[in-house]
Amino acid sequence: VKKMKFKTLEWKQNALHLTDQRVLPNQIRVMRCRDEKDCWKAIREMVVRGAPAIGVTAAYGVYLGVRSFKGLNRERFKTRFKVVCNYLRRARPTARNLFSAIESMQTVFEKAEKLGVEQIKRLLLREARRLEKEDQKLCEGIGRHGARLVRSGFTIMTHCNAGALATAGIGTALSVVYTALWSGKRVEVVATETRPFMQGARLTTWELAKNGVPVTMICDSAVGHMLSLGTIDMVVVGADRIAANGDVANKIGTYNIACLAREHGVPFYVAAPSTTFDASIPSGKQIEIEMRPVSEITRPYGKRLISKGVKLLNPAFDVTPAKLISGIITEKGVFKPPFRKSLLKWES
Ligand code: MRU
Repeated sequence: VKKMKFKTLEWKQNALHLTDQRVLPNQIRVMRCRDEKDCWKAIREMVVRGAPAIGVTAAYGVYLGVRSFKGLNRERFKTRFKVVCNYLRRARPTARNLFSAIESMQTVFEKAEKLGVEQIKRLLLREARRLEKEDQKLCEGIGRHGARLVRSGFTIMTHCNAGALATAGIGTALSVVYTALWSGKRVEVVATETRPFMQGARLTTWELAKNGVPVTMICDSAVGHMLSLGTIDMVVVGADRIAANGDVANKIGTYNIACLAREHGVPFYVAAPSTTFDASIPSGKQIEIEMRPVSEITRPYGKRLISKGVKLLNPAFDVTPAKLISGIITEKGVFKPPFRKSLLKWES
């Protein structure tokens, strides 16, 4: 596995350093998170985004939130810990990884409850670091399994950014691309712009170009036309949450692509780690879809586009029903439909 030419997140000098994804690709700016409020803000305002990267940031946020606790009273420390976890949970609602990372931190806390306050703090930092390393491994696993589906000469369509910028490792959907490329296959990517936040235009094209992957960007509205031409060999996207039946929440517009891919007979794959799987919900109907500020639509980059008084909605995610998905690429292998059965293996 090669090293990326940038760092999405980095723990150093007792703080979490995040590459500010709001200003990419025009500026490389780093935000230094020193407490849980910084981490919350970074997640909510999309300094860091992408389900796995949000999860790792939240884990460090939990540690940073209890680090400043003074005193030895364990009960008060526990209360503080709970407040911090509940606070960070409210940063964004859809990505499962935010919650699974906080749950991992809680498990460590519960096991360590009898220890001293300073010792618990150390274990929490260790867990955040472990989650970061784990995510790197999960990304590599996804890449290994996914790359087997890619033949040399393939053109792969992707949506949003499910790359290194969205994880602590080499990405999920893009890990499939990188791994195929590094194993000597010729691959090309068609990336959608991903309105309104432009993750595809600003982030995916940037990270792929930086890593030597040929990429062409299209507008979201060009997806149907492109798929109808017969030049796209497969679609690979990431996921924010996967329900027990295989329904997938991902960036708004994913569902459109899945429908069009089915219509044109193009295989549609989802790439995600087990930390994105939510076995507690039977279907995508139970996934909360984040509604983002309409200012992302009315004032893209500060310039007003839409007259005042127009009603607007800005859902950030949609749910792609399992029946439109050809396979889910995970660190444990590629799961095929019927997902209700195959995904059970993922849990164990
Ligand atoms: O709103 P974002 O940018 O956090 O949405 C990101 C996505 O939808 C990604 O596809 C998903 O989180 C998977 S990232 C490996």
